[in-house]
Amino acid sequence: MARTIAVSGSASGIGAALARSLRAQGDEVIGIDLRDAEVCADLAEPAGRELAVRSVLDLCGGVLDGLVLCAGVSVFTTLTVKVNYFGTVALLDGLRPALAEADAPRAAVVASIAGTQPQEADVVAACLEGDEARAVSLGEKTVERGAGYSLYPSSKGALAQWLRRRSVTPEWAGAGIPLNAVAPGIVLTPMTVPLFADEGMVELMNAAVPMPLHGHSEPEVIAEALRWLISPANTHITGQVIYVDGGAEATLRAPELF
Ligand code: NAI
Repeated sequence: MARTIAVSGSASGIGAALARSLRAQGDEVIGIDLRDAEVCADLAEPAGRELAVRSVLDLCGGVLDGLVLCAGVSVFTTLTVKVNYFGTVALLDGLRPALAEADAPRAAVVASIAGTQPQEADVVAACLEGDEARAVSLGEKTVERGAGYSLYPSSKGALAQWLRRRSVTPEWAGAGIPLNAVAPGIVLTPMTVPLFADEGMVELMNAAVPMPLHGHSEPEVIAEALRWLISPANTHITGQVIYVDGGAEATLRAPELF
């Protein structure tokens, strides 16, 4: 049966691959992105997030079968925290009631292998407290000390923690809504392709994210995992961060961590 699925980041990379795959199987996709989408909104800002929630609710008539949040940026500024964490969580919170109205609702987000890398503990704590002003102000200090690169891992680590906490609550598990994350390694999308022009950067990336199984992936690989997680077939997986990373996580983290 055709379902209505909202997908953020639908104009490019992983979100675009997922939107194509869902449409091909007959689903209705409500894409959310800065441009080239059914809903054009800036998820870095509270007003844009509110607009996105309102517009999706209008388009789906208050009943949403699936929600997949792919929109993200990888820059060394606080924009990373605003979009990747607060932009994602606002849509999960804002659209959860519409998911709860559906017969087999499902939600998923895109985390990252970077969420296992060193993070700014105070930024992560401010994110989890829902204090965006504090997270941004701490993030600005991080940038000033030249450690802006750690905001991406912090945003994805905080998102994974939020998800693990919320997924098992009455609002999510109790309402029958599985909520999971896919954590990719290195995916060939417009986010990473420019980095491949620099040989030194490629060496750095491969050392930070070793992918012994099949190497860097195409966005369709990640989209396929998301497609299954939000399908009615997924009845019992929730609160999981699933590494679709060619073995990077298994290589980098202690074998007793699972
Ligand atoms: P992409 O750059 O191809 O697509 C990201 C999309 O998000 C774009 O269409 C962009 O317009 C949208 N977006 C960015 N800021 C936005 C905003 N303020 N409001 C609304 N939409 C906004 O990147 P890709 O690779 O498809 O990334 C998708 C997700 O996957 C991101 O969350 C990224 O952090 C994550 N990821 C990507 C990896 C990679 O190697 N490409 C690895 C691990 C995670």
